[in-house]
Amino acid sequence: MRAGLYQALQSAFRAANISWAECEHEDRGDGALILAPANMTKGPFVEDLPAALVGALLEHNRTHRAEEQVRLRMALHAGEINYDDHGVTGSAINLAFRLLDAAALRTGLAESSGVLAIIVSSWFFDEVVRHSRRGNPADYQPVSVVVKETTATAWLHLPDRRPAGAPDPTGATEPDPRLRGRDQVLTRLQRAAHAARAGRFTLALVTGEPGIGKSALAQAIGRTLGAEGWTVAWGACPEREGSPAGQPWAAVLQGLAGRFPSPALAGELAPLLDDHATLHAADDVPAARFRLRSAVSHYLAAVVRAAPLLLVLDDLHHADGEALALLVHLAADLATMPALVLATYRPTEVDEQLADALASLARKEPEHVHLTGLDTEAVGDLMRELCARPIADDIVAAIARRTEGNPFFVREVARLLETDGEHAAIGDVPQSVRHIVRRRVARLSAPAQSALYHAAVIGRDFTLDVLAAVTGMGTDDLIECLDPALRAGLLVEPPHAATRSLRFAHSLVSDTLYHDISRLRRTGLHARVGAAMERLGPHDAVVLAHHWGAAQAPDAAAKAARYLRLAAEQAERRYAHREAAGLWQQAVLSYAHAPGATVRDRLELLIGAIRCLSTAGEHGAARGLRDDALAEVVGLRDAELTARVIVAYEAHGLWPHHAAGKNPEKLVELIDRTLRELPPLRRHLRCRLLAALAIELEQTDDVRGELASLEAVVLARQLGAPGFLATALNARFRRSYWTSTLAEREQIAAELFALGRDHGLVTIEATGRQALLRCACGRGDFARADEHAAETERLADTYDLPIAAATVSLYQGLRHTLAGRFGDAERAHQHAGELISRVGCADAEQGFFPIAPLTLGWWTGKLADLVDFCAAAYSRWPTTGTEAYALTLATAGRLDEAHAVAARRPPVPRDIRFKIVMALRGMVGLALHDHHRLAEAYQALRPMEDEIAGGDTGGFAVLFPVAQLLGDLADRLGQPQSASAHYLKAKEVAERADVPLWMAAAREALARTITRSKPYRAW
Ligand SMILES: Nc1ncnc2c1ncn2[C@@H]1O[C@H](COP(=O)(O)OP(=O)(O)OP(=O)(O)O)[C@@H](O)[C@H]1O
Ligand SMILES: [Mg+2]
Repeated sequence: MRAGLYQALQSAFRAANISWAECEHEDRGDGALILAPANMTKGPFVEDLPAALVGALLEHNRTHRAEEQVRLRMALHAGEINYDDHGVTGSAINLAFRLLDAAALRTGLAESSGVLAIIVSSWFFDEVVRHSRRGNPADYQPVSVVVKETTATAWLHLPDRRPAGAPDPTGATEPDPRLRGRDQVLTRLQRAAHAARAGRFTLALVTGEPGIGKSALAQAIGRTLGAEGWTVAWGACPEREGSPAGQPWAAVLQGLAGRFPSPALAGELAPLLDDHATLHAADDVPAARFRLRSAVSHYLAAVVRAAPLLLVLDDLHHADGEALALLVHLAADLATMPALVLATYRPTEVDEQLADALASLARKEPEHVHLTGLDTEAVGDLMRELCARPIADDIVAAIARRTEGNPFFVREVARLLETDGEHAAIGDVPQSVRHIVRRRVARLSAPAQSALYHAAVIGRDFTLDVLAAVTGMGTDDLIECLDPALRAGLLVEPPHAATRSLRFAHSLVSDTLYHDISRLRRTGLHARVGAAMERLGPHDAVVLAHHWGAAQAPDAAAKAARYLRLAAEQAERRYAHREAAGLWQQAVLSYAHAPGATVRDRLELLIGAIRCLSTAGEHGAARGLRDDALAEVVGLRDAELTARVIVAYEAHGLWPHHAAGKNPEKLVELIDRTLRELPPLRRHLRCRLLAALAIELEQTDDVRGELASLEAVVLARQLGAPGFLATALNARFRRSYWTSTLAEREQIAAELFALGRDHGLVTIEATGRQALLRCACGRGDFARADEHAAETERLADTYDLPIAAATVSLYQGLRHTLAGRFGDAERAHQHAGELISRVGCADAEQGFFPIAPLTLGWWTGKLADLVDFCAAAYSRWPTTGTEAYALTLATAGRLDEAHAVAARRPPVPRDIRFKIVMALRGMVGLALHDHHRLAEAYQALRPMEDEIAGGDTGGFAVLFPVAQLLGDLADRLGQPQSASAHYLKAKEVAERADVPLWMAAAREALARTITRSKPYRAW
C-alpha cells in the first residue's frame, strides 16, 4: 500500500508539474512529510496538485483490491524549519501535523464520497489560495483546529466530493444548468423515485430529439435525489468516437468504486473495469456471462443497501447488446430494491437490439417521459437568463417558433443574439441549429476556430495535451485561445476531470464542426490524433481504432486492425460477442489494406470473427465466413491452421445448420484430409475435427460420419476434458439416429446432460435437457417431457439461450396440439420460428420442411388444403417432400396426380426425419394401395412400435403412435392378428401419453378388428 501511495504521489507531482526530485521526503509510516524548497512556487500545490492527486488515487484504487484502497488527508502550510540531530523540526512542522490530525479534516474525509481531503493553514489560505489565478477560494470552508490549547482557523477543501447528487464526470455537461419549463416532468420523475424508494425497482425512460434536454433533465433529477441522500451513478454511452462494449456499466462501476469499495471490483467485476486483463476462453460463455451479470447485480444490491440508488444510463441508443441485456437482468435481480434507473435515448435511433431490450423491460411498466420543446414562456426565461440585453416578447415568440422550443437551439440563438444582435439571430435566419453553431464559431479568432476544428476530430471530449500535439500549439496558448469558446458556451470544462480536458457543450457542436471538415483533411487529422493519443496514452482501443480506421497514413490500416483486434478481445471478455464479431470483421477489412499483410495474420482475425459469430448464435454468418477462410487456408497446406479454422465454428445443440454451407462435400473432404495430415500430438484439435465431421455428415449415410462420432467420444474420454467430451457426445447424439435405438440415444442424452450439470457448462446442460426432452417425446412419455421442458425453460430464461427457448416453445405447441388447441399450437410454432431465425439458423427448419405444417394439417383434418403448399415444398426438397405432396393430393381426391408423384420412392434418410417420413410413406401406401410403400413402411417401423411418429422432433411434427399405423398397415397387408396386437400396443402407448384422441383411435381400431375377425374366432 505504501508503494501505491508513493506511486500516486509521484505521478500526481509529475502531472501537476511540481518537481518531486527537488522536494525532500520523509516517510511517516502510513503517510509522508514532503518539504518543498522555499523558492518553489506554491500555486500549483492548490491549483494542480489536488486534481492530479485525485486522479492518481482513483487510478490506484481502480486497480487494487478493497484492502489496498487509499484515501488521503493532506495538510499544506509554509514556514521556517530547522534541522537537528533527529531530523527536521520547527513550529511550522508541528502545525502541519496538527492540521493533518484535525478532527474537521478527519470527519470531512470520512463523510466525503471522494478520496482526498485537504486542509490549509490560514497563512497558506491568505497568501496562496486567495491569490491563486486558477484555484477557487470559495471551494474552501473555514474550520476550527485546536493547536496547543488555543484554537486556530484553517481551511478545509474536499476537491472530489461531489456536491450532493451531482453526476459523475462522465455524465456532466455543465456544472449547474437551470432547468426551465420541466416542472411537470420533474414531478413525474420524482413520483417514480418515491415509488422506487419504497422498495421497487423502477425504470424511467426519457426520450426526445437531440438537444431537447434529456441529459439536462437526468442531471436535475440526479441533483434532487442526491440532496435527498440517494446514491447517484452515471453510465454514459459515448457516440461517434466509439465506446467499448459494456461501457455504461464500466462507467457506473468506476463511479461507485471509490465510495463503495468491494473485493468484487478486482475479482468478478474485473472484466468490466480492467481493460488489460488477458482473454481467457471461457469454458461456457452463457455461464460466465451470467456470473458477470450476477456480480454486477450483487454489487449494486450492496450499494442499494446503503441508500436508494439512482442509475442514469445516458444515450442508451449507443449501448451495445450485452450492456442492454445486463440492464434487463438487473431489472429482474433488483426487482424489490429501492433503485431507479433513468435511461435516455433518441427515439429515432432505436435499433433492433434496443427495441428488444425495451420490449423485455416493458414488463416493468416504465415511466416514459417524452420531452418536447419548451413553451414560449420557458423560452423567454431561458433567453433572458443568457442575454444581458432586454428582449422583446415578439422576438421571444419568433425564436420559440423557429427553434420549436428545443433548449439547445434556444441557447445557441440566445448567445448569437447576445453577440450579433436581433437581426443576426432571427433576421437573416440561420435555418438550423448547425447554421447557428457555424455562425457562432465563425465569430472566434482564426486560431481558436482552427483549434476547435482540430478538437472536433478528437471527439466530444478532448485533452489539451492531445490537442496541443495535433495543432502544434502550446497548451498555454491553447488555453488562451480557447477561452472565448468557453465563455461563449461552445466548450465546457467537465467538473471533476483530473486531467486538463475540455468538452464540447453538446455533440451537435462537435458533430457540426467535424462534418464541415473535408474528408480529405479529416483523414490526415485522424492520423495525427491517433499518433498523439498513442504517444500520450493510455487510451481506449476502440477510440484508437476509430481514429486509425478513419485515417489516411501508410500504417493506418495495420494500426486500425491492431486496435480493432484489441477492442474485439475486450468485447469478448465482456461477453458482448455480437459486438466482438463486428469488431473482428472490421479488423479483417482494415487489415486487407495494410501493406505487407499476410494470409496467416488475416486468418487469425477471421478465426476470431468466426468464433464470436458462432458464440453469438449467428450460425449462417459464421459458416459463410468459415467458407471464405477455408478457401484461403487450403493454399497454405498447414493442417493445424486449417483445423483451427474448421473448428472456429462450433455449434453445440441439436439443430442442423447445414444449408448455409456453400459446398458441403468439399468441406467434408477437407476435414477428412486435415484429419489425416494433422500432427498426432494435436489430439484436442483432432477430437473437435472428428465431431465436426460427424455433424457435417449428419444427414448422409456416409459411414465416415458414424466412425468419426465414435472415435471422437473415445478420444474425448482419453483426454478427460469435459468440454471436449461434450462436443463429442453432442455430435454422437446427432449422428445416433442412423444406427442407435431410442434407448441408446437416451443414454447419450443423459450423459450429455449430467456432464453439463456437473461441470457448470450451461450450454451443454441445456443441450442435454433438450435431447432428453426429444427422447421422452419419442416414447410418448409426456409427463417426463414436461419436466424436461420446464427445466429447459428455466435454463433458457436464466442464461439467455434462444435455441433452448425455441425448443420449449415447440414443445408447448405440441402440448396444445395434443389437447386440440390448434390456434395456440400455431402461435407457439410461430414464436419458435422467430426465435430460431433470429439467431440465424432459419435453415434448421428445412430439414423438417414441409412436415411441420403438414402434421398440423393432419391434426386439424385439413390435409387437402395443403396441396399447393406441399407442391412448392416438393420442388425444393424432393426427399422429404414426395410423401407429403402425394398424401395431400390423395386426400384431395387427385389420385392420378398422387400416383404420378408417388412413382418415385426416394430413400428415406435414417436421421431424425426417418420415423415421420416413413410414417407418411405408410399413409401414402394406404391411400394409394401402394404395396411397396405398405411393405416398406411396415418393415421399417416395426422396431419402433413403442414410439411416437415424429416424437423425436420434440414437438415440431408429431402425428400418432407408430403402433397405430403399424396396425393399419398390417391390416391392409392381410395380417389381422398382427393388426390387433399393434392396436393393443397403440392403446398402451396412447394411455401412457395420456392423449384422448390417440386412445379413442386405438380403441376404435381395436373394436373394428375384433368385430371383423369374429367369424374366425372360436368365441
Ligand atoms: N429545460 C431546460 N432549460 C434550460 N436549459 C436546458 C433545458 N433542457 C436542456 N437545456 C440545455 O440545452 C442543452 C441541450 O440539452 P441536453 O444536452 O440535455 O440534450 P439531450 O436531449 O441530452 O441531447 P442529446 O440527444 O444530444 O444527448 C444543454 O446545454 C442543456 O443544459
Ligand atoms: Mg444527452
